Amino acid sequence: MKISIFGMGYVGVVSGACLLQDGHEIVGVDKIAAKVADLSQGRCPIQEPGVARLLEEGHKAGRLKATTETSEGLRQSEMVWICVGTPSGPDGGIDLLSVEAVIKEIGQTLHNSDDRPLIVLRSTCLPGSTANRIIPLLGKESGLTVGKDIHVVFHPEFLREGTAVKDFYEPAKIVIGEAHAGAGDVLLSVYEKYDAPRFRLGLGEAEMVKYCDNLFHALKITFANEVAAVAKSVDVDARRVAEVFCADTKLNISARYLRPGSAFGGSCLPKDVRAILRFASLKSLQLPMLRNVLASNDAQINNLVTHILTYRPHTVGMVGLAFKANTDDMRESPYVKVAKALIGEGIKLRIYDPAVHPDRLVGSNKEQVQKALRHLEDLLVSSLEDLSATELIIVNHPTVDADCIYGWLNGGIRVLDLADIEGVDRHTEAYEGIYW
Ligand SMILES: NC(=O)c1ccc[n+]([C@@H]2O[C@H](COP(=O)([O-])OP(=O)(O)OC[C@H]3O[C@@H](n4cnc5c(N)ncnc54)[C@H](O)[C@@H]3O)[C@@H](O)[C@H]2O)c1
Repeated sequence: MKISIFGMGYVGVVSGACLLQDGHEIVGVDKIAAKVADLSQGRCPIQEPGVARLLEEGHKAGRLKATTETSEGLRQSEMVWICVGTPSGPDGGIDLLSVEAVIKEIGQTLHNSDDRPLIVLRSTCLPGSTANRIIPLLGKESGLTVGKDIHVVFHPEFLREGTAVKDFYEPAKIVIGEAHAGAGDVLLSVYEKYDAPRFRLGLGEAEMVKYCDNLFHALKITFANEVAAVAKSVDVDARRVAEVFCADTKLNISARYLRPGSAFGGSCLPKDVRAILRFASLKSLQLPMLRNVLASNDAQINNLVTHILTYRPHTVGMVGLAFKANTDDMRESPYVKVAKALIGEGIKLRIYDPAVHPDRLVGSNKEQVQKALRHLEDLLVSSLEDLSATELIIVNHPTVDADCIYGWLNGGIRVLDLADIEGVDRHTEAYEGIYW
């Protein structure tokens, strides 16, 4: 396939070299003439293991060309990969000037040509950029209807410099964001022999997936370093701690605790975060990320309360009060905090939690909940039917099923599902989670 690549930097050159090795014909387009001169001679303009040899072989086979001219780059291409930079602007915001400049040139060139390549955006762009900025600009400049005459897909790049060739050939996943079903078929055909899961998403989802990965990687490194700083301060081998942490693939290195929805709570997490923070401050250790964890968690609870109040309900039902299902432990339960806040707003609350029996509570659990919810026994109801007289139900625990939720929805009750109950169509009217 003839593929042109706009932006022969780290991503563009690596992609070009690997696609050459796969037998494709590549035209590299860059505004820097020196890079184009190098590529035209089969020389590699960047330092990255393995890339120079692939470029040289592709050049020898006559399948590598390079140019500074958009029209030359586009001629008879079936696909255009846009790999120009999207650096930080002076205020930290994303600078899309290079992407927009390339799209403008491509649009103007296509206006006067019959070529209709698939436009593949690889540069990292904020969610909404492709739909709201790139597609309208291409349509305006080309006079074409995007989605009918020509297609644009967003295809995030996950390679890491230093191991980029390996990452290209062995990707953890292949993600394609499409505005129209089937738009990315040509792109997927390039990956036919690649062994990786494929995800065909909406444009915004694909854009967000890229940021989600990078945010998490940044978070992981910071987490490892902050924990290591605490370990080092007491002569504990931080590497050994990290090894054991990573060996736990059930709770630590897993999908556990990564489902968006509820805040955390319970008798351990808040207490233990506070203890480490106090311990660290006595040792003058800086742990800015961990220091903000509790504030962020409180913000989740406040956001939930604010969201509920936007509906101005008089009566609210709650499924689950303990910090998780099937326990009566309500110490630092986020749902106790939500309940307290709603009562403070004058809302009549009914709570269903079959594990909680006020007469059987003891110790700090009893003390804490009585302090927050003085008349707990008056708030608790004994059956789910008792929630049917409310206007809005918050599902905190996965102790109800889809039929129950549909029953409430059909009865005109709004349902806020924080427990992600299986089998409910997320697009059902009056049914929502906190983040969807
Ligand atoms: N570098 C990485 O490891 C990596 C990994 C994943 C994603 N990304 C993303 O990929 C994109 C590219 O990153 P990079 O590191 O390869 O950037 P880079 O700065 O190395 O390369 C960008 C290239 O685009 C060229 N360019 C700029 N404007 C142009 C124009 N109008 N016409 C033609 N060429 C033009 C530049 O001359 C440069 O050669 C960024 O959005 C980045 O966030 C990078």
